Amino acid sequence: MAGADLTAVVTGASSGIGRALAVALARQGARVGAVARRADLLASLAEEVRSAGGTVETAVADVADRAALGAAIQTVERVLGPTDLLIANAGMSDHTGAAEMNVPKVEEILRVNFLGVVYAIEAVLPGMLARGRGHLVGISSLAAFKGLPGAAAYCASKAALNGYLEGLRIELRAHGVAVTAVCPGFVNTAIVANNPPMPFIMEPAAAAARILRALRRRPAVYAFPWQMSLLMKLTRWLPDRVIARRVGVKRRPTAG
Ligand SMILES: NC(=O)c1ccc[n+]([C@@H]2O[C@H](COP(=O)([O-])OP(=O)(O)OC[C@H]3O[C@@H](n4cnc5c(N)ncnc54)[C@H](OP(=O)(O)O)[C@@H]3O)[C@@H](O)[C@H]2O)c1
Repeated sequence: MAGADLTAVVTGASSGIGRALAVALARQGARVGAVARRADLLASLAEEVRSAGGTVETAVADVADRAALGAAIQTVERVLGPTDLLIANAGMSDHTGAAEMNVPKVEEILRVNFLGVVYAIEAVLPGMLARGRGHLVGISSLAAFKGLPGAAAYCASKAALNGYLEGLRIELRAHGVAVTAVCPGFVNTAIVANNPPMPFIMEPAAAAARILRALRRRPAVYAFPWQMSLLMKLTRWLPDRVIARRVGVKRRPTAG
């Protein structure tokens, strides 16, 4: 079992995929450290897990705050023991169109989706190296495979994450530490709540079950569902004008 007799830390555990992962890991017998910003949602997660007999510790932190995230992970580790499995899942998405050129928004997305994962890894990797075992998992996205109009910063953050995890993976394999980039397609969570109808969309619990099943193999990359993964890979070969037409990009972006 992916979660049996181990300490798993999940960032972004207050909602969506992270919450579903935390619940499923606890159900499988893992001691779960749950980190996010919204204390009330973490408290309701803890209540659900504990009432089902599971073990969970929560800590509030913004993953973009390196010191706060490190302290939060230390707090849960003091109770649960050192982290065997890190699932760095916290992430955000927002429109970053060319016309607006909203640099603070681009910086925020990169801080949360990319640096937030780096900071989480920083908190657990020394312990994993000392013990000669562990599994680092970043929740990336199929959006890592292709830069898309209006989502340039989100796609860039996930592409950066995949490249970073790949580099770590090759370096850490000799040290007993596995590294996995998980690239989901659409999952029915707050992050995509305002999207038009999405193909092959999954519920968070189904996505979490697939992720945890796949993690047992410690794959380099787990991209799913396969239909959406194939679509995104094919998108790489499409001419830009076809993609632009498909997502309704105007020939000359205007600010107003
Ligand atoms: N849903 C999809 O279709 C989809 C597809 C591919 C990849 N993903 C990825 O899956 C991950 C989870 O997203 P989701 O779909 O489950 O969306 P979600 O329901 O909005 O969950 C996002 C989680 O990340 C946390 N978070 C966001 N910013 C944070 C910050 N600065 N510090 C700490 N925690 C933060 C949120 O908690 P707080 O607000 O309480 O901090 C929340 O628990 C993300 O990395 C996302 O990019 C989602």
